[in-house]
Amino acid sequence: MAEAFPTLFSPIKLGPLTLRNRIAMAPLTRQMAEADGTPTDEMAAYYARRARGGLGLIITEGTYENDGVQSRAYLSQPGIATKQHQAGWAKVFDAVHQHDCKIIVQLMHGGRVADPRVLGGKPPVSASATQSGGWTLYTDSDDEKNIRGISGPWPKVTFGPARELTVAEIHQIADGFAAGAKRAVDAGADGVEVHGANGYLLWQFITPKTNLRTDEFGGSPENNIRFAKLVGDKVRAAIGPNKLIVLRLSQDGVDDFVGAWPGTSYAKAIGEALKGSAYDALHWSSFNYLDNRQTDDATPMSTVLRKASGLPVITNGGIAEGAQAEDVLTTGAGDMVAIGRPIFAQPDWPYIVRSGAAYDWAQFDRKYVVRPPIDYAHAYPLALSDPKWPTI
Ligand SMILES: Cc1cc2nc3c(=O)[nH]c(=O)nc-3n(C[C@H](O)[C@H](O)[C@H](O)COP(=O)(O)O)c2cc1C
Repeated sequence: MAEAFPTLFSPIKLGPLTLRNRIAMAPLTRQMAEADGTPTDEMAAYYARRARGGLGLIITEGTYENDGVQSRAYLSQPGIATKQHQAGWAKVFDAVHQHDCKIIVQLMHGGRVADPRVLGGKPPVSASATQSGGWTLYTDSDDEKNIRGISGPWPKVTFGPARELTVAEIHQIADGFAAGAKRAVDAGADGVEVHGANGYLLWQFITPKTNLRTDEFGGSPENNIRFAKLVGDKVRAAIGPNKLIVLRLSQDGVDDFVGAWPGTSYAKAIGEALKGSAYDALHWSSFNYLDNRQTDDATPMSTVLRKASGLPVITNGGIAEGAQAEDVLTTGAGDMVAIGRPIFAQPDWPYIVRSGAAYDWAQFDRKYVVRPPIDYAHAYPLALSDPKWPTI
């Protein structure tokens, strides 16, 4: 039988890794770590269940790398800052590797949108002294409202005014990313993804409206991306050439759902600045990769970044069907796809897409973020055997 999506299911060499296909699981925060950030056995079961579904690569949920420099952003967020965190992650990596799937850890720093409850009374930090407008909590259950101590139909999550980081602190935070990356690979990860997207600290430097600096870390695309490049350099020095390092980028933030860069020329300049950097690949994050928010140029931002940087791109956002994923790859909008919400609810998404079976588009169900199921056998059944697909 002819392969339905021949490019999607063909292997790819990404940096030092060879992946069995071009489907990555997008990073999805679940807030199901222990209170001290240690990954749980349930997380191992959750990720292994998705690896078994036929993914080529898993990118973990955003993980803090150093509690001392306020990188933590959420309650029950996993960390990679301690020996205990490492031991918890080692179980996750082992479980995933049993299914011929690679896994990289997303490293993040919350910056100005860190939950005040994890900051211990300190102000949040950012590129500049700005304040997030906060975000509306979309939820169909009261769990997350209760846990945050807020109420009402569409409550707002708010953040205090941020203080501007000094250059010394920028270097200290970059060192924290490198130390976290080292701990991740020592625990068995295949590499890391540096989170430069979705409203967190590195995004706050990359996005002109939140970066008002006039030093070498602000004022131009080349300066705005400098911090992310510094992190890439330090991470590479810490983990060597044989591990994958990806940089995730976006226009949107968790507190800015219709974020926009100042034109595709900005994406081009960012891409050019990343040419020859320590990163093996870029990852474009969005809710619809075809919507670049520009009125005068319809080229997807992922295409612009890919051309300008010369780097492979993982493209994410609103890809629910195999045909859409194949289109990304055949139109030059990416070299891989990252699938988020469908893999939340359909762990077998790669297998389902390849088989042609019908499936329901997964509704984004926020309640699983704070109250995941804890019946492992029921929620993450692994009894089925791995589908053995021929490599084409
Ligand atoms: C509940 C939830 C948690 C998320 N957590 C993260 C995260 O930890 N790191 C990140 O970079 N993006 C995160 N995202 C964004 C997703 O990776 C992805 O960009 C988004 O869901 C759009 O892709 P999709 O259309 O395939 O779902 C999250 C999205 C959702 C819905």
